[in-house]
Parts: sequence; structure tokens; C-alpha cells
Amino acid sequence: MDENSVSNTSLWTAYMRAYHSKNATNKIFDDHLAYDLVPKEVREQIEQQIIHEVFLPGTNNIVTRARYTEDIVEETIQQGVTQYVILGAGMDTFAFRRQDLMENLKVFEIDHPATQEFKFQRVTKLGWKIPENLQFIPIDFTKQDLETELTNSPNYDPKAKTLFSWLGVINYLTREEVETTLLAIANIASSGSRIVFDYMDLNAIEINKKSQQVQESKKYLEKIGEPRTTGGFYPSELGEDLSNLGFNLLENLSPSDIEKRYLRGFTDVQNALTYINFAYSVIK
Ligand SMILES: C[S@@+](CC[C@H](N)C(=O)[O-])C[C@H]1O[C@@H](n2cnc3c(N)ncnc32)[C@H](O)[C@@H]1O
Repeated sequence: MDENSVSNTSLWTAYMRAYHSKNATNKIFDDHLAYDLVPKEVREQIEQQIIHEVFLPGTNNIVTRARYTEDIVEETIQQGVTQYVILGAGMDTFAFRRQDLMENLKVFEIDHPATQEFKFQRVTKLGWKIPENLQFIPIDFTKQDLETELTNSPNYDPKAKTLFSWLGVINYLTREEVETTLLAIANIASSGSRIVFDYMDLNAIEINKKSQQVQESKKYLEKIGEPRTTGGFYPSELGEDLSNLGFNLLENLSPSDIEKRYLRGFTDVQNALTYINFAYSVIK
């Protein structure tokens, strides 16, 4: 990733949520704010590069993971969660869109400094009010320690029940960086705190490596300087891997689970990406 500029993939995923919000007849996730966050010239560039066979399942992946996560946000607020930490937030609009849930919730957006700065400038330009209980914390996961940065944040309470989300980020980190971050989360959050993330299924990626989906997205991510790394998991080993890091696995959704839960009866393409799983886990 270019150290000094906004993450291109964060703009693509925002564009995908905006596309779905504008075009899907039966919406899985309605991110009506995402469109404005993506500058017009970027939207035009993206539109020129779309390959529908990859873009539509990709969009399904982005909106189902957002829906899965925000369903968990609502459910865990009912169970006493008072802090929501969005790791690698990109153009996530939760704090601006769900004011109804923000009254008793502190939200922390953590992202690479350049992407966070871009978002801050964009939000300011659009004239959006920054919610009082939203805090931006710039962190580069490859260089800084999440535990130190979050502990130093005066608003973060390590004793409070906290939900973390980590969407579309693990793919860009090494396995070691992923484990370091998960260990930091287990250290800085109270028992019973939770995390939801998506991850690359290393088995499926191997099996499907010649498919158009895998090839085209790989080529594109390399072209824009955000190549995938090896930060995924083998689904059958995820429970044990997380247990070693201090978590109990609650749910591990495969592409067919995701299709069954969210994409049946969907009017557009009904398939999810073949190699992305969603995981939901609790700190022991
Ligand atoms: C594909 S985007 C996903 C954004 C958002 N979570 C979503 O679902 O739309 C990847 C995000 O990971 C962040 N990211 C990638 N590498 C990072 C790093 N080393 N440190 C901090 N953030 C990183 C990028 O800045 C970007 O916001």
C-alpha cells in the first residue's frame, strides 16, 4: 500500500456499497452515505475498470460482510457492548449513518494514517458533523502496536464490553501481523468482548487459483499496489488458531453459508466470493 495516499481498495469497497444501495431491488445492506464519500473522478475511474463477473460477487461479499457485522453490532449492544472499534475502517459510514445506536456507544475508527486523513478531509468537505463519541486513531498495523495506541487513547475503557470489526484488512497483512493484532485485542479488551472479521480461506484460494474471480482480483490488487498477502486461515483450523490467541470461535461462515443466509432470492447475482469466510469470536 502506498504509505502516503488513500487506500484504493477502501474506495472500491465504498463504491460497491454505494452501487448496491443505489441499484439492488432487495437490499442486503443500505449504505446510502457511501456514494458521497467516493469522489466523482474516482467513481468514474472505477466504472471504467469494472469486470461484471468479478464485480457482482465481490459486491455481494462487501455488502454481506457489512450486514453480518452490523447485525452483530445491534445484537451485542443489547448484550451490554458500549464500545465499537472498527479496525481498518476505510470509508465505513456506521458512525454517521447509525446515530440511533450511538447514544450509549463509543466508536473508534482505526486506520492507516493516509486513508484516515483522506476520509477526515472528505467528511469535512461534505459538511458532515463528526459525532461526539466517534474517535479517529491513525495506526499502521505493520509498524505500530494496537495495544499501546488504544490504551493511550483517553476515551478507550479496557474494562468495557467491546466489539471489534476487522473487515477486508487481514488479506493485506502477513499471518504474523494478523496474530500480533489479535493478541493485542485479547490483551486490551475485557473477557466476553468480541470480534468479527472476514478472512481468505487458504484452502479455497489454492483450489480456485485458476478461476476468473481469483485471477482478476489478484491482478487488479497487484496493479493498484495493494497485493494480497498470506494473512488468511484454513477454516478447519481457525477454532484452534484463535483459541491459541485467547479467543473462542462462535461462528465461521463459508461462502455457501453466506449465500444461504443472505443471497437466496436476491435479484442480481446470487453467489458470494468462493474464497472468503466470515468469523465471529469472543475473548475467553
Ligand atoms: C479493503 S479496505 C476495507 C475498508 C473497510 N473496512 C471496508 O470494509 O470497506 C482495507 C482497509 O485496510 C486498511 N489497511 C490496510 N493495511 C493497513 C495497515 N498496515 N495498517 C492500517 N490499516 C491498513 C486500509 O487503509 C483500508 O482502509
